[in-house]
Amino acid sequence: MTMADLATPMAIRVAATLSLVERAGSAGATAEDLAAETGASVVALRRLLDHLVTIGAFAVDSNRYRPTDLGAQLHEDAPGGIKPLLDITCAGGRAELAFADLLETITTGTPAYEHRYGRDFWTDLDAEPKLRSSFDAQMNWRFQTQAPQIAERFDWSRFPRILDVGGGDGTVLAAILRAHPDVRGQVLDLAPSAARFAAAGLADRAGAVSGSFFDPLPTGFDAYVLSDILHDWDDDHAREILTRCREAAAPNGTVVVIEPGPEVGTAMNLFMLMCFNGKERTVGELTELAVGSGLSLVASGPVSEGRTALEFTVAP
Ligand SMILES: C[S@@+](CC[C@H](N)C(=O)[O-])C[C@H]1O[C@@H](n2cnc3c(N)ncnc32)[C@H](O)[C@@H]1O
Repeated sequence: MTMADLATPMAIRVAATLSLVERAGSAGATAEDLAAETGASVVALRRLLDHLVTIGAFAVDSNRYRPTDLGAQLHEDAPGGIKPLLDITCAGGRAELAFADLLETITTGTPAYEHRYGRDFWTDLDAEPKLRSSFDAQMNWRFQTQAPQIAERFDWSRFPRILDVGGGDGTVLAAILRAHPDVRGQVLDLAPSAARFAAAGLADRAGAVSGSFFDPLPTGFDAYVLSDILHDWDDDHAREILTRCREAAAPNGTVVVIEPGPEVGTAMNLFMLMCFNGKERTVGELTELAVGSGLSLVASGPVSEGRTALEFTVAP
């Protein structure tokens, strides 16, 4: 039951969603104070706080609840950055909640996310600006160390013009442009934001275009980059995305696929299935998909801690 109990994970998620750690602060606060601030029921909130004390996330003294070092990790400024993964109003926390409908995924093979929320993950993000911005922030946070590694450990200087396909808010492209002053690029995404380029002083070399990678892509780029895209999709959709890249890259362009692979673990692989009908793939599986989309493998190798880059050309 310690592994399967839902009371504790949900209590932690509700605490993150109501920002109880930030509100209580190091001085602590009474259940009445916290209920007044959050609009919660005092009786119910006290029951929640008492469980947070039991699990060691809060301590209580003279009726005041304050976060322990363990609980302080839920603070929005804590270095681990876990709050958006637990706050159920953020994209990550909301997606995790769909695990409650995992049975639907296992019995039907379809994403629990759609079953629970009535639309797929990306449509949901499009409809809710907070989901979109929290997702982009989460993507940026996860690549704090890796984006500069991806920029430096792969020779992007060979490609004067790069299209970052599904590039989100431009985290990867911005890192590449910072490391390679002669490279220019564009991000293509459903809801692109060029804000990062302006903030990074790269606006003269970078831009963003709206579009779907299931539609014909802009031509004329030297490299088409798919960073953490294919693992969000089943094989048929992944092949379609690779085919759009191959068509736009032809005859002499390059397609670069960056993926984590199955080493991220079985829990993450289950999440990809539950949320997107996606899949973590081996280099062999990615190469097979790409070959089926008219591409030839040139090289593959590690490009950052935990990620591999596969370079493809258009097959003759
Ligand atoms: C896992 S994120 C990766 C973002 C970025 N490439 C990175 O590595 O940080 C997947 C991205 O695919 C985008 N996306 C999803 N469906 C799309 C579509 N049909 N066309 C273009 N982009 C799409 C999402 O908006 C999101 O930014």
